[in-house]
Amino acid sequence: MGSALVGFGKAVPALVVANETLETLVDTSDEWIVTRTGIQSRHVAIGETNADLAEAAARDALGWTNGGFSERRFDASEIDLVVFATITPDTVCPSMAGLLRRRLGLENAIAFDVNAACTGFVYGTTIAESMMAACAPTSAGAAGRNPIRRALVIGAERLTRLTNWADRNTCVLFGDGAGAAVLEWDETRPGIMGSFIVNQDDFANALSSPAAYDAPQPFNADGTLKEVPALLGAAEQGIDDELGVAELVGAGRPRQVLYMDGPKVFKFAAEAMTEAVNQVLSRANLSLDDIACIIPHQANERIIKYAAKKLNRPMDFFQLSIAHTGNTSAASVPMALCDAYANGRINRGDKIILVAFGGGFTSGAVLYEA
Ligand code: ACO
Repeated sequence: MGSALVGFGKAVPALVVANETLETLVDTSDEWIVTRTGIQSRHVAIGETNADLAEAAARDALGWTNGGFSERRFDASEIDLVVFATITPDTVCPSMAGLLRRRLGLENAIAFDVNAACTGFVYGTTIAESMMAACAPTSAGAAGRNPIRRALVIGAERLTRLTNWADRNTCVLFGDGAGAAVLEWDETRPGIMGSFIVNQDDFANALSSPAAYDAPQPFNADGTLKEVPALLGAAEQGIDDELGVAELVGAGRPRQVLYMDGPKVFKFAAEAMTEAVNQVLSRANLSLDDIACIIPHQANERIIKYAAKKLNRPMDFFQLSIAHTGNTSAASVPMALCDAYANGRINRGDKIILVAFGGGFTSGAVLYEA
């Protein structure tokens, strides 16, 4: 018995921004972006919120639409848990999971958000599976716990809200979108056979953004109120020490954006991805020969190429969706997973690895039988 992945959906915003458009914003070229990253275009949410994208992806995964891939139609009342992975919530409170629960009428669901950056969907799936293994009605530890038989796991981002469109090092990389999966505890299927999640200290703050909790504080350290002009000024200018976040992102860097030291993150990512694949295989007592395909986080095609070389597998062993999405952080793995089902590359009984890495640093993998 185990947690089977039984429904998949994805959604992207209407606006498509091609590399050529970015050539007019910063000193870059389509040729540089394609060669260094594999990205040709990305979707940017102007008219859509994070919740809009997540809702559309979830409806597909639940089998409420003709999009997506769902083994059956799930009723709203059947969903016991919503885990929503994002670093770009529309609201900090209520949680995005709570908003989605309301929009979809998931009256029986426990709902909460997870922040593990680009590894968010892998963390969310691991959390949902662990809770189901402990709390499903037929599991050993079910007595005295909330019964959880079905979970909706979402990865959804409006990463372009954090994008510094004047920084060519990052603005060419990111995009918006949402992916969703339904997990069901099934007494007849192995479902998820192994998972591995790990944190390493990003001691150099190679990937950081203070945005979510970055509203200018009206208080001085001694409890007195700031002058109104100082407060307004702080909102407009770069990071200042007074807000206590300069240490995190570096004095003088612009606020409200994602900062990234690309080469440092690249080095971490390349190692973390192969490590997570090997760890999850070992935990499931399987080898790469047992695996049908790998669904990796889509941050940079070159990182996937590096992993392919290290794992001694051809590139077509990996689902590649980055060309028209860019890096959509927590949405990237479930969107690529949905693409893999759309391409007909996953059949019942196949063993699949989902693998990701991201800010924190976080990384991890999930191995399941389809
Ligand atoms: N266009 C043209 N030139 C550029 C651009 C651009 N868009 N961006 C950088 N360059 C220049 C640099 O300034 C540098 O010039 P210099 O040699 O004169 O100094 C040169 O290109 C090489 O820059 P590098 O940073 O060394 O380029 P690299 O080959 O490492 O590619 C990249 C950069 C694509 C960012 C890569 O490092 C990468 O993909 N890193 C990992 C990103 C990632 O995985 N992020 C995941 C986490 S995101 C999250 O968690 C939300």
